[in-house]
Amino acid sequence: MNSIEWINGRVRFLDQTLLPGEERYVETNDINAVAEAIRRLQVRGAPLIGIAAAYGVVLGMRDAPSASGEALEAALDASCALLTATRPTAKNLFWAVERMRSVARLKIHMGGEDVYRSLVSEAGAIHSEDAAMCAAIGAHGSTLVPTDAVILTHCNTGALATGGIGTALGIVITAHRQGKSVSVIADETRPLLQGSRLTAWELQREGIPVTLIPDTATAVSFHKKNIAMAIVGADRIAANGDTANKIGTYGVAILAKHHGIPFYVAAPTSTFDCGIINGAAIPIEERSRDEVAMCGPVMVAPRDVHVFNPAFDVTPHELISGIVTERGILRPPFTESIAALFGTRGAA
Ligand code: MRU
Repeated sequence: MNSIEWINGRVRFLDQTLLPGEERYVETNDINAVAEAIRRLQVRGAPLIGIAAAYGVVLGMRDAPSASGEALEAALDASCALLTATRPTAKNLFWAVERMRSVARLKIHMGGEDVYRSLVSEAGAIHSEDAAMCAAIGAHGSTLVPTDAVILTHCNTGALATGGIGTALGIVITAHRQGKSVSVIADETRPLLQGSRLTAWELQREGIPVTLIPDTATAVSFHKKNIAMAIVGADRIAANGDTANKIGTYGVAILAKHHGIPFYVAAPTSTFDCGIINGAAIPIEERSRDEVAMCGPVMVAPRDVHVFNPAFDVTPHELISGIVTERGILRPPFTESIAALFGTRGAA
């Protein structure tokens, strides 16, 4: 399954808002449609958002081959601004857009044809590098998984969320392919149900046993279901290891700590933001009240009741046992291990 593809000058992506009921692909050559797809979570998951945005920049520069230098600059700035305004939390979005901007800038003096060709190739590289990073995360992370393990995960971090097999789910899938007897407890991940709609769907397709629980059953599952470890993904990791991920992750981490169960984060280096010293500075997206107050077309809260709907929370680094990256497993103290990974205390 390809959650996103570049085909002859067009982007083709699986509309994740329709899963698991319908597998419908959308094809477009319009940057506005890509921006809207990111905003609406038709395309979602930090690494996939970055890949989609990279292809979005290419689409925004469709007319580049015939444009003048000034027009190229203007189109590039407008495209990058449109895409970075879609969702604020996932670092991968900003990382990918900046990578695309830098490549374009280096080529502008050579003309629009070169700019366009380099952008197509850079977006493809971002996509294929993500697939490779997932595979490496899977290989490193699977060393943590016992031969017989129940693993709890939150939200969706698989092929639907990345350009490859996934991050946290990539670890589960790799361990399964190695012949380990893994099963997954997936919480439903209210309000948008990435756990039940997407993770349970992906795991079933992989033939990995999965038990779906309501978010409210997470505590009792840690208490009674012999969980070996929790593994989640990340949208942005600060220089001290504080990790923004799907709302509810913080609660999962606290529960894991209480029950003495290791809690791991899995993410590629494109998710790290070493320019942010701790989680307090990570921008957290707040989404519409209707995602909470409505269940499909049905109202499940009193009309006009005030709703707080943060899409992400920040798990403090003290609750994290390790961070699995494509370059190995980082251990506490994360300020040191992250600085060593990036070779500097500066921005990633
Ligand atoms: O709002 P979403 O569905 O884009 O949130 C996704 C998550 O929080 C994932 O856990 C995270 O992006 C990592 S995906 C490999």
